[in-house]
Amino acid sequence: MRIILLGAPGAGKGTQAQFLMGKYGIPQISTGDMLRAAIKAGTELGLKAKQVMDEGKLVSDDIIIGLVKERIAMDDCKDGFLLDGFPRTIPQADAMKEAGVKVDHCIEFDVADDVIVERMGGRRVHPASGRVYHVVYNPPKVEGKDDATGEDLIVREDDKEETVRKRLAIYHEQTKPLVNYYSAEADAGNCEYHKLDGNRPVDVVSAELEERLS
Ligand code: AP5
Ligand code: ZN
Repeated sequence: MRIILLGAPGAGKGTQAQFLMGKYGIPQISTGDMLRAAIKAGTELGLKAKQVMDEGKLVSDDIIIGLVKERIAMDDCKDGFLLDGFPRTIPQADAMKEAGVKVDHCIEFDVADDVIVERMGGRRVHPASGRVYHVVYNPPKVEGKDDATGEDLIVREDDKEETVRKRLAIYHEQTKPLVNYYSAEADAGNCEYHKLDGNRPVDVVSAELEERLS
């Protein structure tokens, strides 16, 4: 199954990707996690991406498209994948189409901007795995520690309220047009489009997702 997770920063893409990975055994391709790993490793890509990401802006389409094409060509993606945070612009979606990458489902998480700002303030992440927690809504078993490894959780650099507001503005301007793009793809019979109310609790959203994909 090939799935695109579409939604604003903090809409719950990473959280629901964890649920879907467990359920369908397909890998999560998170361009944000890939870029953060490159920054941590100090690669050339990481050096280029760091400032852009810290400012809440988008990394250039060329870089991202190359990154995703390479990842999708890997063996573990042959039975499907979850795209989390990609595509995020019309050129990225066009590049996928031109490369002949078909998707089965496009899932949109619709969440109010104010809810998002509140969520980002409490987000904690385990950088090595990409696992996501929230201090109130999805707390780890031990405060500040990842459930599986016991390693420290961190606050993302771009989760400051000012940066979150900038990321939201960029989402509305550059990524929201993909709602119409993939709705049109669904109308043409190329994929299924599912719009979910992402303002509800994590398990309620997961349950609806499961129902929609069955
Ligand atoms: P990326 O890492 O993709 O960030 P994002 O899209 O802004 O999304 P987030 O990861 O912030 O949110 P999410 O939807 O995964 O929410 P989460 O599940 O964590 O990208 C970062 C940066 O990289 C970009 O700004 C850009 O610079 C660059 N980049 C990445 N991809 C790119 C691309 N394709 N092109 C160009 N540049 C790119 O949840 C958030 C919080 O809420 C958590 O604490 C969670 O526990 C909690 N939560 C989740 N669901 C619920 C719920 N239902 N109820 C209550 N709390 C919830
Ligand atoms: Zn994420």
